[in-house]
Amino acid sequence: MCYKNWMGRMVGALALLCLVSISVIAQENYKPTKENLQAREEFQDNKFGIFIHWGLYSMMGQGEWVMHNRNIDHKEYEKLATCFFPKNFNADEWVKAVKRAGAKYICITSRHHDGFSMFHTEQSPYNIVDATPFGRDVLKELADACHKYGIKLHFYYSHLDWGRDDYAPLGRTGHGTHRASDGDWNHYIDFMKGQLTELLTNYGPIGAIWFDGLWDRDEEEGGMKPERWDLYSQYELIHELQPACLVANNHHIDIIPGEDIQIFERDIPGQNLYGYSEQAISRLPLETCQTMNRTWGYNITDSIYKTPKFLIQYLVQTAGKGANLLLNVGPQPNGELPAEAIARMNAMGDWLEQYGETIYGTRGGVVPPSEWGVTTQKRNKLYVHVLEPTKVLFLPYTGNKLLKAKCFANGKPVAFTQLKEGILLSFAKDQTDDVDFVVELNFKNEVK
Ligand code: GLC
Repeated sequence: MCYKNWMGRMVGALALLCLVSISVIAQENYKPTKENLQAREEFQDNKFGIFIHWGLYSMMGQGEWVMHNRNIDHKEYEKLATCFFPKNFNADEWVKAVKRAGAKYICITSRHHDGFSMFHTEQSPYNIVDATPFGRDVLKELADACHKYGIKLHFYYSHLDWGRDDYAPLGRTGHGTHRASDGDWNHYIDFMKGQLTELLTNYGPIGAIWFDGLWDRDEEEGGMKPERWDLYSQYELIHELQPACLVANNHHIDIIPGEDIQIFERDIPGQNLYGYSEQAISRLPLETCQTMNRTWGYNITDSIYKTPKFLIQYLVQTAGKGANLLLNVGPQPNGELPAEAIARMNAMGDWLEQYGETIYGTRGGVVPPSEWGVTTQKRNKLYVHVLEPTKVLFLPYTGNKLLKAKCFANGKPVAFTQLKEGILLSFAKDQTDDVDFVVELNFKNEVK
């Protein structure tokens, strides 16, 4: 190699290194913009969103992991696209159902681990417009309906891919899908950046990008190291394209610089029932994602749904921890939301219609969650959510004069005594509620 050529390459490599380092430094010292901070507040005020896991896998009726679970060859799996025709899909109906549930945002799978894009992308023909007889960009239709009805739209985006050769080398999952996995990893990174650019350019304002799948890389292959995934420049790209778009990542580890929301999968922050929630609770806005039955994607035999009472109490408990609830629905392959899901969404909507004031716009209350229930707060009000009926309740909160205590549902006074150590509430016989007995406490000063 001649000296000049060699020098040229060195200079090129150095320039690239500088660019990468600048982007690393930029995100490591990430300072959210004013728009971003405001979006975080709005996100927290919204408290309740609907998660939608929808893709080709819905046709198999066994959840979104079916390709991995049944070791389906990726070429065979791709054939599902040729008969995907969700005849009854109606974006307006979905958004109206979400609104009726009292949810304020939707987070939908734009591309899950199976690698199929549910939107029109230039980066690969394997997408809902180019590869299916349906030929409609459902994300575009959903985006239009969301903007029309004032519902925020978030996009789930998988870092993991079970179908592409440039997802190389293989990760922990998807070994039975028979992709070559010998391609160029940098090509895969460029592919993802291309898609992210499309998602943040062609669908109007996007509330959040919700990443998932980072846990797929083995430790010896760089694990979840941001540099391994070129995460910083993806985060930077998102913030550049839409400063108010919040970055979330379901990696189950501590927050990585550049993220705006912290996610807890199937756990209220502080719990660890599923083994995904060992990470420290950060100061970022929090979100718990949870299923209504047991799976995320449509499962034809999974009829064990959580009860409306459980789900309402779950929303309240999540709010009591200062977190949002992202509750999942897995639409059917015909494009309809399952009737069981609609019934639960309606029940939550009915409850929120009456009690929304004690949830929306609140933050986790100063009185920490306890066996009897939780508290939420807004300005000089503390809402006491009694989830386990009791006759008396002691709240260890002092230093603020309690002016009034009333039953939120009917405005009738609740008897109280303010002591040096805290507040004692005593309830009349009819002051109880099987789901959530809400007491509104009005203080002289802001509750802190
Ligand atoms: C897990 C699953 C994935 C699902 C996600 C939702 O990461 O792998 O299928 O989309 O949880 O939280």
